[in-house]
Amino acid sequence: MEKGKVLYEGKAKILYQTDDPDLLLQYFKDDATAFDGIKKGTIVGKGVANNKISCNLFDLLKQHGIDSHFVRKLSDNEMLVKNVSIIPVEVVVRNISTGSLCKRYGLDEGIVFETPIVELYYKDDALHDPLMNDDHVMAMELATREELAIMREQALKINKILQEFFDSIDIKLVDFKLEFGRFKERIILADEISPDTCRFWEKGTNRKLDKDRFRQDLGDVEKTYNEMMNRIGRKL
Ligand code: TMP
Repeated sequence: MEKGKVLYEGKAKILYQTDDPDLLLQYFKDDATAFDGIKKGTIVGKGVANNKISCNLFDLLKQHGIDSHFVRKLSDNEMLVKNVSIIPVEVVVRNISTGSLCKRYGLDEGIVFETPIVELYYKDDALHDPLMNDDHVMAMELATREELAIMREQALKINKILQEFFDSIDIKLVDFKLEFGRFKERIILADEISPDTCRFWEKGTNRKLDKDRFRQDLGDVEKTYNEMMNRIGRKL
């Protein structure tokens, strides 16, 4: 697969054109940011870990009937993906309270929700990704009601599949963020699923196994990405 021009560079990934207009190369960087890019760093091996973890999890979801932009792994840091047009609405699913939810509503950390909470955020760094509801999405014509219904339904299905999988490796899936894109008249899952975009707590100890180790300076950041890659990879 020919690696062409850079189409888009984000904080953690680069998308390159390929010789096929329907396909892009998604490269995972070791760069890490937090708090809208205010905190910057490098997590050695993060690109390799997030690529492998995302490949594994997209594969798992495919086995359960969830289509995504993932085509195949190309190298340690690269995967081939469909050239979707990203919908600028981030879908967050929360099973356990933590992070911005606790801050916003004054909740204690660690409350296990009977029903998962689905939240929508406007994907706009300059505006700090503000929380939004369905009416905002439709008024701003970011997605239709039907598209939003698909995104919500897929997000909840993905939550069930991933919760069951992580439970089987003694990890609690606390929350995660998904992005969807349009590809040939369909809405499919895109972006990545990794310790950058999910929160994972070890069962029993509640040890954090995700990017919160970087965000909160908890130490063992590189080790944790590597551990997650191995724990997931051993099972999938
Ligand atoms: P939050 O509690 O900070 O709102 O994060 C919710 C989930 O979204 C968590 O799993 C981490 C993920 N996330 C991203 O993927 N990108 C981001 O920019 C932020 C702030 C959170």
